[in-house]
Amino acid sequence: MTPEDLKPLVRTIPDFPKPGILFRDVTTLMGHGEGFAAAVGMMADKVQACEGQAIAGIEARGFIFGAAIAAKLAMPFIPVRKPGKLPVPVLAIDYALEYGTDTLEVDPGAVVDGSRIVLIDDLLATGGTALAACELLRRAGGVVAEALFLVDLPDLGGAERLRRAGVAVEALLDYP
Ligand code: PRP
Ligand code: HPA
Repeated sequence: MTPEDLKPLVRTIPDFPKPGILFRDVTTLMGHGEGFAAAVGMMADKVQACEGQAIAGIEARGFIFGAAIAAKLAMPFIPVRKPGKLPVPVLAIDYALEYGTDTLEVDPGAVVDGSRIVLIDDLLATGGTALAACELLRRAGGVVAEALFLVDLPDLGGAERLRRAGVAVEALLDYP
């Protein structure tokens, strides 16, 4: 399979969660065994190409792809969590949403000082979530080797925003 073969497996839902938004839904790709395995395999190849040593996944959909990639490569998985979930003292970062703010947290003990971490998420839109996660992983002592996504929505500017912040970005599929 190639990335082009995966594209029809992502479902597009108009007007979700709000009128005017064309929602790219990766759950249908996850529901296709061969497609899911191919996506995980292609993303794992990219992790190896940038010499990643650990995988960080962003809750929740980033856990699904990130954990599968980490297990395939027998690499450590670092969960970047929504607030109040980790049972230890955490590093936390607030970031802006369209309305209001949100918070991500990481266990600093999960990050080996100087290790090359590949940040995984299902989808890159404005880049606010990924940028906050990169900053958190850096504060915890990691080096973000790359931010890697299944889907990029380039019109929303996230990849450009991450690159301007010095983060290498890759995605298997884009929907201009
Ligand atoms: C979605 C997606 C990314 C983020 C992308 O997550 O999985 O994490 O939004 O948006 P951004 O680039 O504009 O920051 P969501 O917050 O919907 O959470 P979920 O994975 O728990 O469904
Ligand atoms: N699909 C899934 N998650 C998202 C999207 C989308 O189109 N936009 C922002 N987060």
